[in-house]
Amino acid sequence: MIVLRHADELNRLDALRQPGPLVLVPTMGALHEGHLSLVRQGAALGKVVVSIFVNPTQFGPGEDFAAYPRDLEGDLAMLDHAQVAAVFAPPVEDVYGGPGEVTVRAGRRAEGLCGAARPGHFDGVLTVVAKLFGMVRPDIAVFGSKDAQQCLVIEQMVRDLRLPVSLIDAPTVREPDGLAMSSRNRYLDPEQRTRALCLSRALARGRALLESGRRESGAIEAAMGEALAAADSIDYAAVRSLPALGATESVPDGPLVLAVAARVGPARLIDNVALRVELRGVTEIRLLGHRAPAGD
Ligand code: PAF
Repeated sequence: MIVLRHADELNRLDALRQPGPLVLVPTMGALHEGHLSLVRQGAALGKVVVSIFVNPTQFGPGEDFAAYPRDLEGDLAMLDHAQVAAVFAPPVEDVYGGPGEVTVRAGRRAEGLCGAARPGHFDGVLTVVAKLFGMVRPDIAVFGSKDAQQCLVIEQMVRDLRLPVSLIDAPTVREPDGLAMSSRNRYLDPEQRTRALCLSRALARGRALLESGRRESGAIEAAMGEALAAADSIDYAAVRSLPALGATESVPDGPLVLAVAARVGPARLIDNVALRVELRGVTEIRLLGHRAPAGD
């Protein structure tokens, strides 16, 4: 496994490009089994480069940028046992040039949900992802579906800027009790960890209502909100169309996402499930690759 600690070493990736494809798994480190599953999916497609970079521009004032867990040596030890060809772990000054430089502004898919709760967050995500694409020049990039809106916002950027990279959304990895794996789960004490289960339970509640034939978005969102009562505060419990993330009064047949965000103790947690609603039932689906409506 090659470890690149500076951007000026990136030409060492050229040795990995033939035979391709080169697959980028972008991360902010503090790796867990969910990241390893992204690596495994990437390794089935080509040679994997994992980037580890805690991106300052996607954290707002008062968010957890300073506290975000950083353990580069632990991460490298974990990746050494995975099918990883290279790790790129640059310092901030190799990624950002200073005030006044070009940034990316997210499109309409970033307007609600986490975009509303965290102004500027997706602009920061897209700016760093565009930079990582420019630096690593991957053929394929793998992102975790747990960050559903992030995946969809990146899909819109890749489409609108005609970036030459294919995106893969990897299914969320869960603990045996249903908690979605997240680096921020490290912030939870045992009591908070138990309460955090309300997120996956809220999604199960929303899904059960859809399976029972309910179609009013308001009623489904209210039921998911009730299921989140164990959280300290709720950011949203939402039913949204895929891929545009639009809200509708009544759930039409087709792809949708149930999404929740809530604060439990010091952690802001998110979770989601992508579903297709049809006359014959409700099935779990992948997040990316759905046909976009005009204007999305
Ligand atoms: O999902 C993450 O870990 C980050 O948002 C990403 C995509 C690595 C960009 O910093």
